Amino acid sequence: MIGTRTETEMVAYALEVDPGLLPWIPELLSDFDELGSDAAPIVEILRELDVSASTRVVDLGCGKGAVAVAIAKELGCRVEGIELFEPFIESCRHRAASAGVSDLCSFRHADILKLAGRTEPFDVAVFAALGDVLGPLDDSIGVIRRFVRPGGFLLICDGYIKDGGTSDFPGFESYASRDEILRRLHSHGDVLRREVIEPTDHTEAYAREIAQIEKRAEGLAARHPELKADVMRYLENQRREYAHLETNFVSAIWMLERGA
Ligand SMILES: C[S@@+](CC[C@H](N)C(=O)[O-])C[C@H]1O[C@@H](n2cnc3c(N)ncnc32)[C@H](O)[C@@H]1O
Repeated sequence: MIGTRTETEMVAYALEVDPGLLPWIPELLSDFDELGSDAAPIVEILRELDVSASTRVVDLGCGKGAVAVAIAKELGCRVEGIELFEPFIESCRHRAASAGVSDLCSFRHADILKLAGRTEPFDVAVFAALGDVLGPLDDSIGVIRRFVRPGGFLLICDGYIKDGGTSDFPGFESYASRDEILRRLHSHGDVLRREVIEPTDHTEAYAREIAQIEKRAEGLAARHPELKADVMRYLENQRREYAHLETNFVSAIWMLERGA
């Protein structure tokens, strides 16, 4: 799977949208800060490490910068965000400036796959809500760990299929039970140091998020009737995906310590 998608296809896949709608994604997602992750527990897990001003963190696929900026602001360390969708880079810089942490944050428009192994090793790499855009979790870990020094940490925000749940849904085919996901997390010899299973009842949060997407989709379709069919398909896919997540998926954060 790794390397078989073009850059545009990777971005579209990660953002669950047809490539033709990508120019409208900033508008459709304008009510969202995090795009599928939750910055607060990530910050709390990192707080448990001895993070100092000299700690270097990379946020891979940083989206609009919510997680990167929260880490810099709360923990006072340096954070570099890497993001392939260029319009988000501007949002990241704006967010860092508003939070008063522009001096701690830098953002780079680049493809994680092309950059892996070519940066100064970081102390921590965050990989939040990118799902299986790079492939199954063991393949992704193989890429993420190339950003991290031996003894450094990989923070993965992802999830697994509930007992009795199914991965039979577009974009979820590579997901598996918790046991299998734990096996994949260990597949490169790294050590699991922390696991945080997120609350399973997202009913209210999901309903709120769908309502936000709905409002933006309807506004966009009203101004651009030629986009209506595509926008409504996007909205319907989002509704189905939220329902699938609620029934079948458990979100988790795992922190691995990189082996040699
Ligand atoms: C669902 S969003 C999550 C964003 C962010 N981590 C968060 O939690 O808010 C996934 C992001 O990964 C980015 N992305 C996908 N493939 C990428 C790649 N190969 N290199 C860099 N960024 C990538 C997408 O453009 C998108 O912004």
